[in-house]
Amino acid sequence: MYLGIDIGTSSIKSVVMSSEGAVVAETAADLETMRPGPLMSEQDPDAWWSATEKTIGELREFCPMVRGIGLSGQMHGAVLLGADGKPLRPAILWNDGRSAEECAELEDQVQLRDITGNCAMPGFTAPKLMWAKKHEPNVFKQIKTVLLPKDYVRLKMIGTHATDMSDASGTLWLNVRERRWDDTVLAATELDRSNMPALFEGSDVTGVLLSDLANRWNMRQVPVVGGAGDQAAGAVGAGAVESGYCTLSLGTSGVLFIPDSQYRANPDGGIHTFCHALPETWHQMAVILSAAGSLEWVSQLTGRHDIQEFVADIEQSTTTPDQPMFLPYLSGERTPHNDPLAQGAFVGLTLDTTATSLGHAVLEGVALALRDCQNALADAGTHVSNVNVIGGGTKSIYWGQLIANALEIPITYRKDAAVGPALGAARLAQLGTEGLSVNEVCAEAQVEQVIEPEQGKLAYYRERYAIFGALYRDLKQRFGEIHHTATRSK
Ligand code: XUL
Repeated sequence: MYLGIDIGTSSIKSVVMSSEGAVVAETAADLETMRPGPLMSEQDPDAWWSATEKTIGELREFCPMVRGIGLSGQMHGAVLLGADGKPLRPAILWNDGRSAEECAELEDQVQLRDITGNCAMPGFTAPKLMWAKKHEPNVFKQIKTVLLPKDYVRLKMIGTHATDMSDASGTLWLNVRERRWDDTVLAATELDRSNMPALFEGSDVTGVLLSDLANRWNMRQVPVVGGAGDQAAGAVGAGAVESGYCTLSLGTSGVLFIPDSQYRANPDGGIHTFCHALPETWHQMAVILSAAGSLEWVSQLTGRHDIQEFVADIEQSTTTPDQPMFLPYLSGERTPHNDPLAQGAFVGLTLDTTATSLGHAVLEGVALALRDCQNALADAGTHVSNVNVIGGGTKSIYWGQLIANALEIPITYRKDAAVGPALGAARLAQLGTEGLSVNEVCAEAQVEQVIEPEQGKLAYYRERYAIFGALYRDLKQRFGEIHHTATRSK
């Protein structure tokens, strides 16, 4: 059996996979996110560790049979460690937008797009370190090591600093084409290789479980493989390992992900070009920051805490007289706008507006934002013609229909699609510890349902998409102004 652990944003998810690739057990422990100021998003790295231990406790009966562990995690987060290996401050997360100025400074200093294949975005790790240097110099000067979220959990498990190529790609310190740290970008952020973890491929063994931990978990001192950033791990879990097999991950963020056997960068339009979790494979992805995150937000806001029930009500009430629109930029946006100051907006509210029509606007707004991603990928030469949905948002077929209509392509649902990154991490553990081929371990899951776009509704969605795009252009400047008045009033 293999254990996959995903350090997510809303929870830690652990899954046990049999040697035949079946999901035998899964468990999750919730996490809290702190928002100490405008655009800020942070978590306590030690909370990841206690939640991880909690999930392992719940899987106790399987522990003696585990033969390898894979880690996956939310990408880009900056975990700053001092000489004693302890976090110097809370981790700054992937959806934190505080470092926009530093992004511009970094691009002025180095040929970032040529070296890394990516443009600077505040979500990525390097600009966060530049922010820390400017705003928290006392913290910055004590930094000994910078780790990504899953690699902090790895440190607790094996006692050494290591990461994998896919997650390292999201730092902006990696030369993605050559799969190595880049000294020029590191120097621009006043760091060097000694501050970085060792680099491994996703299925390489990075170390073995420390002996006290192995005793506590009732496990052998099993190998822990590199694993992957959550997007690459989710793709491995869904069998997206060959060029062109596209997944749509509907988690807190929403991501269109396509593997590629070649390095093909296109940093304009907000496309990310990263290493995949398997050797000599890369991928392109388009990322919106609040997908299922927007749905969760509107359900909390309207007091409709049971999301499944809320979506069922939304589905029943599509004939309401109002049709408000929603811009899902609650955490700013990456693809295609690269605009940390973008904000969420409801437009078109009337006295008829209800909680369910707001909910509907959110589902539709996310679908239309994904259309932006599809177009940005097409501009980069990658045409998406079918997607396989993975992640927690897979539970709503109704949402899938809206997305199929907005993207005008079929949406495929497969078995175990919601398990996502943790399953991919377990598969990487199996790959790294048994002499099996990628095709044997990373099979595509069984198709459960394919949702075709509804031809009669496409004209309506095209019209809505045109309004959606125009709304962002109309409001862009106002978002900046609102942000500045809000920060000045503090
Ligand atoms: C990908 C990204 C998110 C996080 C959180 O670039 O930022 O998907 O990994 O899931």
